[in-house]
Amino acid sequence: MTVSAIVGMQWGDEGKGKIVDALSEASDIVVRCQGGANAGHTVVIGDDIYKLHVIPSGILREGVISVIGNGVVFDPIGVVTEITGLKEKGIDVSSRLMISERAHLVMPYHKILDGLNEENLGEQKIGTTGRGIGPAYADKAARTAIRGGDLKDEDKFKEKVLDRIKAMNKRIEFLGGEKVDAQVALTELLEARKILAPLIKDTVYYLHQAYASGKNILMEGAQGSQLDIDFGTYPFVTSSNTTGGGFATGSGLPATAVDEMHGIFKAFTTRVGEGPFVSEIKDEIGDKLRGTGENQWDEFGTTTGRPRRCGWCDLVVGKFATRISGVNNLHITKLDIMSGFDEIKVCVAYKLNGETIDTMPASYEDLAMCEPVYEVIEGWKEDITGITEFSDLPDNAQKYAEMIFNALEIKKGTINVGPRRDQSISWG
Ligand code: GDP
Ligand code: IMO
Ligand code: MG
Repeated sequence: MTVSAIVGMQWGDEGKGKIVDALSEASDIVVRCQGGANAGHTVVIGDDIYKLHVIPSGILREGVISVIGNGVVFDPIGVVTEITGLKEKGIDVSSRLMISERAHLVMPYHKILDGLNEENLGEQKIGTTGRGIGPAYADKAARTAIRGGDLKDEDKFKEKVLDRIKAMNKRIEFLGGEKVDAQVALTELLEARKILAPLIKDTVYYLHQAYASGKNILMEGAQGSQLDIDFGTYPFVTSSNTTGGGFATGSGLPATAVDEMHGIFKAFTTRVGEGPFVSEIKDEIGDKLRGTGENQWDEFGTTTGRPRRCGWCDLVVGKFATRISGVNNLHITKLDIMSGFDEIKVCVAYKLNGETIDTMPASYEDLAMCEPVYEVIEGWKEDITGITEFSDLPDNAQKYAEMIFNALEIKKGTINVGPRRDQSISWG
């Protein structure tokens, strides 16, 4: 039996969906522990492309139970849309999905407040996904939110929804926004309630039983380490713990449960939204890494369609993520995109006020002043998307991947050279 977790090591979109899909083959249960529909996880199976937001990527494997854990914030209407989309592709979730009664709901007023907060921040805006994530977690911390368990009783749910809309509309009005129409919202929410109520369970008890009976459990992280509310580039972060600790608090399994911590690290760096990014490239090299949008894997947001900012591989970010989460398996993704450069830069340290540092400064103002210290290595030109053995990779591609494994001091993992299941090379 193993409990494994998958954590993004940069600013999200590292390719977690692909690795969750690969590891879920040997799993009985896949659990999402934090975040919400700000996530967009892509899984490519043959000619089919699936984009999942709140429902765990494990849902694509028959026989695997998917759990939306207590640490997640979920929009009931959004989850129903996702369920319908899966049904259209022939996947009936009713016997394979459960939602924690302790998970919190993202309500229509949270999404409105997300937009208003951003508007009021003006130039200082975070660049959120607009999915209501920050306001939903704020409501949770304020102890005024509605939880999954409230969906079980229609009357109680109705009462709470109307109460909260009344309270939140005052705030929306104060901020100059358009208030939620209580009747319209209630009708939609009650429709969603009918579908979701049977899926609401005590997932903490379920996971404890599964853990005690030796089931293989996989925790699917969302976002990336630099978006963590404690350890990321605050305030340009999301509102949950996206690093190792989030798996325990977001599932109810003990912190000692995770045996294998799988870190997902893209061969270059991307970021969507605002905030400092030391190894960002703003010229045609950045455009080459991003792609034009023609390919599904090009760097445009899975959730919002926004172009992602691109930059060179940053080992300071990688080392920080390794230490915070205790990563002991490394999955390098999108190595294929690095084909075609004469030379490749790797950020190995930062220069801050004349001093060389190799850890992430706590303040975003300091990070914004950091200059990258690059090591330059020779590139390779060959197409590597069909390679399945490490020794068949061009020498310089081998050197590049080894440089990352060695710098992060991780002894095992995979190197990914395309979005499909078979485009993976084992390492170590
Ligand atoms: P996630 O949020 O971490 O699950 O990542 P996204 O799904 O937002 O973005 C990753 C993108 O890269 C998706 O389009 C994947 O299909 C794609 N992808 C994953 N691994 C690889 C890889 O090794 N090579 C290429 N070319 N694409 C990949
Ligand atoms: P996955 O799981 C990339 C970013 C947003 C914004 C900041 C705050 O697909 O890797 P939020 O809506 O959470 O309040 O936005 O976090 N962000 C992501 N960036 N991938 C994600 O998820 C993200 N989820 C949130 O762009 O900068
Ligand atoms: Mg994504």
